[in-house]
Amino acid sequence: MVKVQIIFLCKGFHLFNLQKLNLLCVYFKIQPIKLMLTGRLSLLFCNFAALNKSSLMGWNFDEPVSRKGTSCLKYDLAAEVFGKEDIIPLWVADMDFKTPDFILDKFRERIEHGVFGYTYRDDEYYQSIIDWMERRHQWKIKKEWILFTPGVVSALNFAILTFTGPGDSIIVQTPVYPPVFSSVSAHNRNLIINQLTNDNGRWKMDIDSFEASITGNTKMFILTSPHNPVGRVWSKEELGRIADICLKNNILILSDDIHCDLLLPGNRHTPIATLGDEIADLSITCTAPSKTFNVAGLSTSAIIIPNGEIRKKFKDMAKNLHVSNGNLFGSIALTEAFTNGDEWLDALMDYIADNMKFVSDFLADRIPEIVPSSLEATFLMWLDCRSLNLSDEGLKTLFVDKAGVGMNMGSNFGRGGEGFMRMNIGTQRAVIEKALTRIEKAVASLGK
Ligand SMILES: Cc1ncc(COP(=O)(O)O)c(C=O)c1O
Repeated sequence: MVKVQIIFLCKGFHLFNLQKLNLLCVYFKIQPIKLMLTGRLSLLFCNFAALNKSSLMGWNFDEPVSRKGTSCLKYDLAAEVFGKEDIIPLWVADMDFKTPDFILDKFRERIEHGVFGYTYRDDEYYQSIIDWMERRHQWKIKKEWILFTPGVVSALNFAILTFTGPGDSIIVQTPVYPPVFSSVSAHNRNLIINQLTNDNGRWKMDIDSFEASITGNTKMFILTSPHNPVGRVWSKEELGRIADICLKNNILILSDDIHCDLLLPGNRHTPIATLGDEIADLSITCTAPSKTFNVAGLSTSAIIIPNGEIRKKFKDMAKNLHVSNGNLFGSIALTEAFTNGDEWLDALMDYIADNMKFVSDFLADRIPEIVPSSLEATFLMWLDCRSLNLSDEGLKTLFVDKAGVGMNMGSNFGRGGEGFMRMNIGTQRAVIEKALTRIEKAVASLGK
């Protein structure tokens, strides 16, 4: 790879030339230019480079995309769900950004061919997952460890059905994405809730009460890592402690890592299976490109199971239910995303980080009654609205009826979620600004 290094010694250097050089480097995948500048000047240059990287590649996250009339859950069902036409929908966890062109181009190529019969997942598909896991999460996995399911929630259900029986206990950590606990109850398994604790807006695991909640028939722990909705990226230390308890008690760890690629700058995800061979042997890790590359409608997930015996049982269940065929376009999207998606994802997460800052600043300046929890991953903010002193009904009236903003009620996420709202910031900043301005007005009207 060509490496370009430029040293600027004088302030008079023409900004435009520098921009162009940086853009060319990114475009031709040359190692980015290293700038040895000082103080403000370097910051200015770096920002220019980042800005133009997205726009040169055609990645304009500010570009409005109308999703209405596309059978889109978030927009087309908003009126039905919220009982009102004029709603800014910030609920369902998908993003309002277009799938990047390098994926769309592959779709177009395949559509041109015109025959869409049965297909299989080829070596390129598996290799893209293996390389992605190693590149992004320093986890070396093997091809045979990777199984297919149409979704992560279906994988949770297959695992519950395969590895537990009615009456067995399963631990989950609330507040959490609702299907995590409803999947447990739906199959008549006993739900054990290990509630997360809120330490001044930063959520933590209560590991002592986790251990204390274990009974003789506790068979499984469903870990959400990173966690939706509280936005935590669990530390190695937290994961290590909880994994050791699971090992000691022979509790299978079902790790839902669907958000693991959506890391805000400065955070690093630890797949729990990387903590040691014994832990890997007692774990199932569920991942997918669906959230990261906004392709949830293509129903393609990769389930990683290092233990051969556990894998065989899981595979037999999925096979017997005839859900392992998959979706041709899902396979294409996964392969392309995990092969060529690094730069797009980094640009996306810079945009999400700016959205998060925008929301946090807006709330602090103009709606201090609403306090965001600290966000380390995902495009979902978890807003503490408890100081408004409103019941669930009161929060609904405020956000939906008065403000016309459709978010998820915190109480739907189980114990510990009461008084919170989940806000989806995977959208254009202008949409967020409009929603926050409406909420500001609605909150102000409470005092009148
Ligand atoms: C933690 C978590 N798991 C799973 C899912 C959904 O996964 P899938 O659509 O692949 O079933 C979501 C979607 O929001 C989620 O947040």
